[in-house]
Amino acid sequence: MTNFPRAAVIGNPISHSLSPKLHNYWLQRYGISGQYEALDVSKDMLEATIRALPAQGFIGANVTIPHKVSVMKLAHHVTDRATLIGAANTLIFKNDGRVFADNTDGYGFMANMRQGAPGWDPKSGPAAIFGAGGAARAIIVALADVGVPEIRLANRTRLKAEALKAEFGARIRVFDWVQAGSMLDGATTVINTTSLGMKGAQEFKVSLAELSPDAVVTDIVYNPLRTQFLEAAAAKGCQTVDGLGMLLHQGVPGFERWFGTRPEVDEDTRRAVLS
Ligand code: ATR
Repeated sequence: MTNFPRAAVIGNPISHSLSPKLHNYWLQRYGISGQYEALDVSKDMLEATIRALPAQGFIGANVTIPHKVSVMKLAHHVTDRATLIGAANTLIFKNDGRVFADNTDGYGFMANMRQGAPGWDPKSGPAAIFGAGGAARAIIVALADVGVPEIRLANRTRLKAEALKAEFGARIRVFDWVQAGSMLDGATTVINTTSLGMKGAQEFKVSLAELSPDAVVTDIVYNPLRTQFLEAAAAKGCQTVDGLGMLLHQGVPGFERWFGTRPEVDEDTRRAVLS
């Protein structure tokens, strides 16, 4: 066993994850002896892996696709926000072997918006969200928490947006995917949570004709960093925030809990992760 603390990101596949670069950069920057690894773990090995890690010097882990939902039932304590979101992305292993699960995606979203668009006020008007998957759930919970007056949702599979409305309540308005552009009228926060625009995926083709230049626009896609969606919004005069920061900021609470230092997300961090 190693004599320094270890943490990991657990997923399948995992080779594309930027988390090892991020956390190992922070460890080096703050002079902390520790190690952050990528663990490729299949669904049938998830429980055995999580039970085995603490004895191998692991103090916690990030969890990514496809384990964010299933890891919840393996934890001894789940935070309220992870329960609300229905998924966990950050685990802390206690000394007595118990597993504590949290979700920091909503925190990462808010911190990225606040850093990337100073002056952004989520309470100033409706938020419009494209997509109704796991990332949308975390963002809905975060926005509801800070008092956004209305959340507009459009998803290719309308039923999934309706299910979110049934779960999260009256503040949500569902729009049809074929007229998704109409939900932009008057929206002051606009978020793409679909995979559209990602390298290798289809382009995001929703009309931005109704988009107001006052809106702050963000995309959870960060490869490419400047998606066509963000470029089109910027061309309309909107403030835009790229998606890399959400990934970087969601790592902050875990790193702080595991290694005792609250890490900075700045240009150097971005450069380190993109290098
Ligand atoms: P994540 O956890 O990143 O949100 P997800 O749960 O798989 O990932 O959600 C992906 C989102 O992208 C969904 O809203 C999905 O729409 P469906 O619910 O209809 O599947 C959306 N998405 C993916 N490919 C799409 C496409 N070609 N056109 C429109 N939406 C798409």
